[in-house]
Amino acid sequence: MSEDQSTAGSDGGLDVLLRTEQTFPPPPEFAAQANASDPGIYERADADPEAWWGSWAEKLEWIEPFDEILDWSDPPFAKWFTGGKLNVSANCLDRHVAAGDGDRVAYYWEGEDGTRKEITYAWLLEQTQKAANGLKSLGIGKGDVVGVYMPMVPEAAVAMLACTRIGAIHNVVFGGFSAGSVVERMEVSGAKALITADATLRRGKPTPMKEAIDPAIADLETLEHVIVVDRAGSNPPMTEGRDHRWEELVGGAGGDCPPEPMDSEDPLFILYTSGSTAKPKGIQHTTAGYLTGVTATHKLVFDLKDDDVYWCAADIGWITGHSYIVYGPLANGATSVMYEGAPNYPAEDRWWEIAERYGATIFYTAPTAIRACMKWGVEHVEKHDLSKLRLLGSVGEPINPRAWLWYHENVGGGRCPIVDTWWQTETGAIMITPLPGLTTTKPGSATVPFPGIEAKILDESGAEIAEGGGHLALTRPWPSMARTLYQEPERFVETYWKRFGPDTYQVGDAARIDEDGYFWIVGRTDDVINVSGHRLSTMEVESALVSHPKVAEAAVIGVPDEDTGQAIFAFVTPSGGTVGDDELEAELRDHVAEKIGKLARPKQMAFADDLPKTRSGKIMRRLLRDIAAGEELGDVSTLRDPEVVESLQKQLAV
Ligand code: WT7
Repeated sequence: MSEDQSTAGSDGGLDVLLRTEQTFPPPPEFAAQANASDPGIYERADADPEAWWGSWAEKLEWIEPFDEILDWSDPPFAKWFTGGKLNVSANCLDRHVAAGDGDRVAYYWEGEDGTRKEITYAWLLEQTQKAANGLKSLGIGKGDVVGVYMPMVPEAAVAMLACTRIGAIHNVVFGGFSAGSVVERMEVSGAKALITADATLRRGKPTPMKEAIDPAIADLETLEHVIVVDRAGSNPPMTEGRDHRWEELVGGAGGDCPPEPMDSEDPLFILYTSGSTAKPKGIQHTTAGYLTGVTATHKLVFDLKDDDVYWCAADIGWITGHSYIVYGPLANGATSVMYEGAPNYPAEDRWWEIAERYGATIFYTAPTAIRACMKWGVEHVEKHDLSKLRLLGSVGEPINPRAWLWYHENVGGGRCPIVDTWWQTETGAIMITPLPGLTTTKPGSATVPFPGIEAKILDESGAEIAEGGGHLALTRPWPSMARTLYQEPERFVETYWKRFGPDTYQVGDAARIDEDGYFWIVGRTDDVINVSGHRLSTMEVESALVSHPKVAEAAVIGVPDEDTGQAIFAFVTPSGGTVGDDELEAELRDHVAEKIGKLARPKQMAFADDLPKTRSGKIMRRLLRDIAAGEELGDVSTLRDPEVVESLQKQLAV
């Protein structure tokens, strides 16, 4: 091992900045059978990106063919595959059943409690049509927003597919978010219905979902219907006229629901994600471009073959689940594993036990999960036969070389290529990634843009940097790009397309490009914190904190964390007369969990009578970062009250 490797990991997520000398060319046996094995693919896609994406769109099933591949006459508002009509559920289900693959397993589903189900394409199609008819019977149709707040059960996929069947726009909220987050997202999207479950099983005990959101959703004006899946048999109270049992609604519905012909550019779904402000952004994806992007990337990046057993261990509530548990795999007719629960329940080998049982060949997870597995110990992996695995993936945050090498060696048995895939909720599909049969990987680098994608590193003035660090930008439109922010087109332009102009997408990540043209993602450049691959805004957490009566002011920063990549550090000024002690800290953590969700709880907190501010009253986050890191402070001469800093430093020194 080189010296870099042996020191890698000591500073958690930051060691992505350290290089290892080792590189990993595709194993020859892998390259020989890969879906993408001709390096000319990059050049051809580059020479004519529209023809490249058009060739993927043509693989879909169209109700009416498209006229034009791309209309980029009004950037940044792209239109792809104009004039075409298609239906996403028909592409994901009917197509395969019609081809004789109805009995093919779409999901090996495993509940945390050990329940197992084999979900076939025929069953999914039947349930999707019934659920679609159930929604229709409630008056829900094309263009209506339907919330989905569910655990990882097959019905979650059915709910999403049923929406696409009738042209309703789903708005999925991650099951780990709190009632407050659900209500906010339903309110701002004007959701007409919400599909949820009685409870979710996590670490063996049911946590109520429906009952938890009941008080908060009561006042939502647009919400007419709540549909409740029975996961845990807990019989939550039902409101007459508004609430419906999924089993009755879907069970009693007719089994034939023709797919709604959707325009290529009709909205498919919205998914709220965190940005620089406290108000989440409703990322809006449309029908044909999104499906084209996820189909192409899923097929080539994961090298999907008919006999693969593919497992993406994300949650349906995030974009990874949308694109690479539901739409990409189903459009490609894949057989996937879907697991409901925690990776370490009842024991730390649960994932590997599942991988062995179903003979998983492809496994996709986040660096934070890999680091957790490292911590639990390699013996849990070694207990199981993982010899069928042939490809591994990583997503959500930079993977530190030490975790990369551990994953490669211990999960992949040294033989599986690793695809470190960089992308975002906004990009819809994977953008920077190895192609496993073609790309030599360097641990810690997401490598190169997917064919047809153009990425650049720009300096502050927007000029391209050929080698070195700066702002990551995507400089060409792509089919699965977000079309707008739901009902906020101006904010869409302002957030992503203003800084470098209307045809250059400002990613919001800092990155470096090396002498081989490989991209190394460093982290966010905006006020977004990435905790375990989950995106949180500092403002969102700050506003949750200040909504507590005992808090006068709060500032939140992200600090490097060995386990979660980044962790939340909150600086809090208690309101007059309140003492900042452990008790208050616990109370505030609970409060944030209630407002946003457990994942947003600050890991560390410091109390002070005031926060370091400039004379004009602006909080100096740079100083907070230095204080949290225990570093020498830079220039403090512009501070209004330098003593504040000393008192904070003293607190952290003990
Ligand atoms: C942000 C997007 C894409 C699905 C999960 C997160 C970070 C994502 C990587 C990677 C380094 C990564 C970026 C990005 N990110 N993948 N392979 N290497 N960083 O989606 O919640 O929209 O977050 O996650 O900072 O901007 P998201």
